[in-house]
Amino acid sequence: MTSPSLIHPIQGDKENSPWFHEYLQRLLEERDRTGLTDMIHQVDALMINVEPGCSVSYVGELALMTPYHYLVTLESETHWTHVLRIDMHSPDILVREVRDPEYHGIFRSLNEVYPVGAHKPNSRYMGEIFRVTDQHDVVEMQKSREIRFFNQDQIRKLELPGNIATVKPSPYTHNIVGYWERPEHDIRVYALGNSVIREDVNRAYQNAKEVQEQLGLDHLILPIDHLATRVYSQNREVAILEYLTLSSYYYWGSYDIANQNSSTNVTKSIHYPDERFSPAKVFTAANNPYFVNHLVGLPSPTENFVRNYGPRLHHLALIVADGETAGQSNIDYVVEAIRANGKDFLLDVIGSKEEGLKQIFSSASEHSSLIVEYVQRFGDFSGFFTKKNVAGLTEAAGVEESLKFLQEEASR
Ligand SMILES: [Fe+2]
Repeated sequence: MTSPSLIHPIQGDKENSPWFHEYLQRLLEERDRTGLTDMIHQVDALMINVEPGCSVSYVGELALMTPYHYLVTLESETHWTHVLRIDMHSPDILVREVRDPEYHGIFRSLNEVYPVGAHKPNSRYMGEIFRVTDQHDVVEMQKSREIRFFNQDQIRKLELPGNIATVKPSPYTHNIVGYWERPEHDIRVYALGNSVIREDVNRAYQNAKEVQEQLGLDHLILPIDHLATRVYSQNREVAILEYLTLSSYYYWGSYDIANQNSSTNVTKSIHYPDERFSPAKVFTAANNPYFVNHLVGLPSPTENFVRNYGPRLHHLALIVADGETAGQSNIDYVVEAIRANGKDFLLDVIGSKEEGLKQIFSSASEHSSLIVEYVQRFGDFSGFFTKKNVAGLTEAAGVEESLKFLQEEASR
């Protein structure tokens, strides 16, 4: 009998090595057999760090561009953590602001060695928190698979939630994964300090939601579809397999985006086929390392991004409800409305109803450096993307990327 994590046919045309296929099978078989797959459930929360002074504006930005609501702020000695929520089905977002500009933690050093990432040393997507049914067993099993965790003293110093077992940053993605035990019907409570409602955050949130409602965007923008991480070309296969080791996700497949010298690699939750309940996790990697680009003769936006920022999350993609508003596709309507409210996009909406999918990238947030992608699937289109769209998006992000790098070089 095939293991449950291996029953999905692999999609796509990007070739993987025999080593990848061997260990894909062995890792997932073992994960299923030992019960780990059954103990790790959905992504319950995402953590995003921003610079001192930036979190109020960032909450406002997310309140306009996403369905998230401001719930509460958790106040601790060196951080403010704003909890944003849609409902109990989709993951929360924890927006964390470092209160002291002089604060130096391990996550800051992950930014500081990269030329563009260093400009906003506190801004980075941190990772995902998974709901598990037995935290002790999951942690012990992961430790026996050589996964490393922060100890209690480190958790306290980093002011990470005390009730979450947190894995040290991945050497391949620099992201963390946390596990917490929560019976499905219990509320989510983060052990992160005193609960307060911050007046300034609440005002930014209320103002943005008012605009969102007036424009009718509140019913059109749905929860997160996927999270896309960029890694160095040589780390593509190991980043995928490491994530499958840490989660209960399966390997959906990989597409070669040859003209952008890149590939897009998708993993999905085995327990929640609907991404709104647990977003797909995507890994993008160049097909060639930077030092052979002069021989390959192709653009290399993905490798450039990683060299400039370090491996990290590149974008959050939100679903736009299928349908039309004011005579145009919902996604076109959403983008026009948000553009009119001062938010830039890197390109025009690409794709078509006939192809089944339309997508767009926003400019990177000045607060978190993250891009927001909107994606509208038409009718019964069940695919994850079209190659043409991904090529267009990757190219547009690359153009902005190289401009930033040139500005950085010029400012030295
Ligand atoms: Fe995407």
